[in-house]
Amino acid sequence: MNNRYGKLLNNVLTLAIVCNQWGDTGKGKFVDLFAEWADIIARGTGGANAGHTIRINGKEYIFHLVPSGILWDSDGKINIIGSGVAFDPKIAIEELAILKKEGKSYDKLQISLNAHLVLPQHLVMDRVKESDSDTGKIGTTGRGIGPLYVDHYDRIGLVVNDLLNKDIFAKKLKRNLAGKIKQLHLSDPNIVEKVMRHEHLENGIFYHPNEVFDVDAIIERYLKYGKELREMISDTEEFMRTSVNKNQKILLEGAQGLLLSVDYGTYPYVTSSDCSVSGLAKGVGISEKNIDLTLGIVKAFYMTRVGEGAFPTEIGGEESAEWCGRKDIAEEVEKIKFQQGTVNSKDEFSQGVHIRMAGNEYGATTGRPRRVGWLDLPLLRYAIKHNGPDVILTKLDVLSECETIKICLTHRYEGPNYSIGFKTFNTGSASWIATPNDEILRHCFPIYQTFPGWERDIRGVTDFSCLPKKFKNILDYIAKKAGVNVKILSVGPDRNETIFMD
Ligand code: GDP
Ligand code: IMO
Ligand code: MG
Repeated sequence: MNNRYGKLLNNVLTLAIVCNQWGDTGKGKFVDLFAEWADIIARGTGGANAGHTIRINGKEYIFHLVPSGILWDSDGKINIIGSGVAFDPKIAIEELAILKKEGKSYDKLQISLNAHLVLPQHLVMDRVKESDSDTGKIGTTGRGIGPLYVDHYDRIGLVVNDLLNKDIFAKKLKRNLAGKIKQLHLSDPNIVEKVMRHEHLENGIFYHPNEVFDVDAIIERYLKYGKELREMISDTEEFMRTSVNKNQKILLEGAQGLLLSVDYGTYPYVTSSDCSVSGLAKGVGISEKNIDLTLGIVKAFYMTRVGEGAFPTEIGGEESAEWCGRKDIAEEVEKIKFQQGTVNSKDEFSQGVHIRMAGNEYGATTGRPRRVGWLDLPLLRYAIKHNGPDVILTKLDVLSECETIKICLTHRYEGPNYSIGFKTFNTGSASWIATPNDEILRHCFPIYQTFPGWERDIRGVTDFSCLPKKFKNILDYIAKKAGVNVKILSVGPDRNETIFMD
């Protein structure tokens, strides 16, 4: 069975799949693909802000919280939602209901009793903050992630196990809500009411006109969730430690991407968990030292970003960023408006739209158009310092029609003097490795190397030797200039549209 993976997994017991960019690189596809090899599949970071897509024979599944190994449950694989995950029981139950409807089992799924709980107040705080122009918009997914981790570190969070103990849940909930009610009373009441009545907050069932939150309604609903999930709630950290000692095959599923890590990413335009491989290990309760192989996914030869923040190689620049940030732009609108045109459009805005359409780059969680740009090697060189040099390149089929491919080799800084420790960035400073600081990154301009495209569909290719020479030239360039070991190529969303290099 190991043949499917070539020599890649020889001597590997714990494998981590993470992303080296701003997310949405194909983690779902690869976790599903490696789940066949694994005994246990575990997620350890993020929450329902993630959207991981799996395609099998043309049928698509999107998971937000449930690990992407779940389709292997009936084969005896154990899927784990670890303690580092921001766990939203409502979304988990909805995902399980979809699986049930599809006739898929989830009998072996385990949920950490220590995972922190996303509650209605987290969704409210996230959305109210995003609508306040003074606090600086991040472009979050609105899934309550930031406020959840704030509560965790503020020591007022509730955990999954609290769903099983009514009195403790009620006591902790009231303590958690006290400060938020005071804060929300200072906010625009119309915005608060609108948010409380949002469909993600069950159209207002938790809304109380004076107290903001109807505490009893929250208690009733969440204890019901606890009853539904009871059999799955367990000490997953202990289970993971024991499994490592028993030499079980473990697959760790990252969420988001290194550049979105709260610790190592392009702060402040990041999510609120550490999505590096170290954050992932911690989030499932094992040591990073136990990971034998980390594969960092890199979308190529373009990349994407959702939400605010600097994007030096963005195709179409600020005009594209603003367009993608508009609330009225959805996939359908764009596809109708831009039926004509190609990925080779001379107008960069239009070229960006067509690359987005070719790659189907619309958010798996929010449906937002993803901003697109050329592959940025200074950012990649930075990301692999944390996640290691072994990479999977995905989406390689998307640019098959491009006449010209641009790869960003270095950055040139063109902003006001800015000190980073003893180093000063002044206009004209060049960077080989990016500094993930938005104050610098937003003044960085890409210096490109340009390549002729291969202009041939490569989607059906399963053998490396059958790939066009022009394509291989770009691949060699990336491997050499970024210092990565390319282990796998992905030329389509399906499991079998994959080329193993060894
Ligand atoms: P994730 O968040 O990293 O799991 O990625 P998403 O699921 O958000 O987005 C990746 C999208 O690309 C999904 O729609 C996948 O089905 C699709 N995909 C994955 N790999 C490839 C590939 O090599 N080529 C193409 N065309 N699509 C891919
Ligand atoms: P997957 O796992 C892409 C982005 C949001 C926003 C920022 C903060 O599918 O790769 P948050 O809701 O987390 O507070 O939003 O992070 N973001 C993602 N972008 N893929 C994701 O997950 C993301 N999860 C969060 O768009 O810019
Ligand atoms: Mg995604």
